[in-house]
Amino acid sequence: MRIDLSGKTALVTGSTQGIGAAIATGLARAGARVGVNGRSEESVAAAIERMAIERIDDERIDVERDGGERDGGERDGGDLVAAPGDVSTEEGCERVLGALPHVDILVNNLGIFGARPALEIEDAEWRRYFEVNVLAAVRLTRAYLPGMRERGWGRIQYIASDSAVVVPKEMIHYGMTKTALLAVSRGFAKEAAGSGVTVNSVIAGPTHTGGVEDFVYQLVDRELPWEEAQREFMRLHRPQSLLQRLIEPAEIANLVVYLSSPFASATTGAAVRVDGGYVDAILP
Ligand SMILES: NC(=O)c1ccc[n+]([C@@H]2O[C@H](COP(=O)([O-])OP(=O)(O)OC[C@H]3O[C@@H](n4cnc5c(N)ncnc54)[C@H](OP(=O)(O)O)[C@@H]3O)[C@@H](O)[C@H]2O)c1
Repeated sequence: MRIDLSGKTALVTGSTQGIGAAIATGLARAGARVGVNGRSEESVAAAIERMAIERIDDERIDVERDGGERDGGERDGGDLVAAPGDVSTEEGCERVLGALPHVDILVNNLGIFGARPALEIEDAEWRRYFEVNVLAAVRLTRAYLPGMRERGWGRIQYIASDSAVVVPKEMIHYGMTKTALLAVSRGFAKEAAGSGVTVNSVIAGPTHTGGVEDFVYQLVDRELPWEEAQREFMRLHRPQSLLQRLIEPAEIANLVVYLSSPFASATTGAAVRVDGGYVDAILP
């Protein structure tokens, strides 16, 4: 299955690092023009530079694997476009819409998280989590879905989490936002019914992103090499994972790129899991 997204424009919110950066890179490698988003012009410019270098390295690997010559620029990948703005605010969204007035693929990846004792989470914190993790995605969906519907093709995704269904007691406010995204996604899929636009959520599991290594080494023997350390961490603290290791951001991105493609035309209104089997359920 060779995914070709050339001619498509995508926006990935919160894509200057972590899972968002992997998704932006994956979509660009498939040929899409991708809007990279973060709160500041500086962080977005630095991310684009990093991703461009990674892509050159990737392309070199592909060319070597294929045994030589590039074939007709097929692997050139799409452009990365700066789309800075704090999308948890109306002004920030307007800024992003100014940079990218039309998109064919919207990946609502932005999400903040942090542990907090349940009874100490105050109203302002509940509101902040809702605004960043849910309202930003709703606002962008409202802005971009009508254009996708008119053009008869579009892809919208919400990056949810295992925490949507296995709500952690130290992150109820985070879990609440991820459960909300499943509802938002299913609802907008109904709004898009029959239009050629698909709307899905992606349930990501524990992933190897920035800061996770420090977190792991706080809980297991510091002398262990990373491979063993993460397996020990999963065995002791995430025993329900069937993968028994952290997921790499690129593994989440692979599913998102597929769902963004014409091949995924019959998947809509779904919550699709890439959680390493962490959620002990047959559905979704
Ligand atoms: N990591 C995991 O194990 C895991 C597991 C399941 C699900 N997820 C979900 O996956 C998504 C990505 O997680 P991650 O761990 O990759 O995130 P991350 O490494 O913390 O990255 C957050 C990104 O969001 C940007 N950002 C933060 N606030 C913003 C705002 N208001 N407006 C625009 N951009 C903003 C940051 O860019 P700047 O600093 O440049 O603004 C950064 O690019 C989240 O929705 C998370 O809930 C993560």
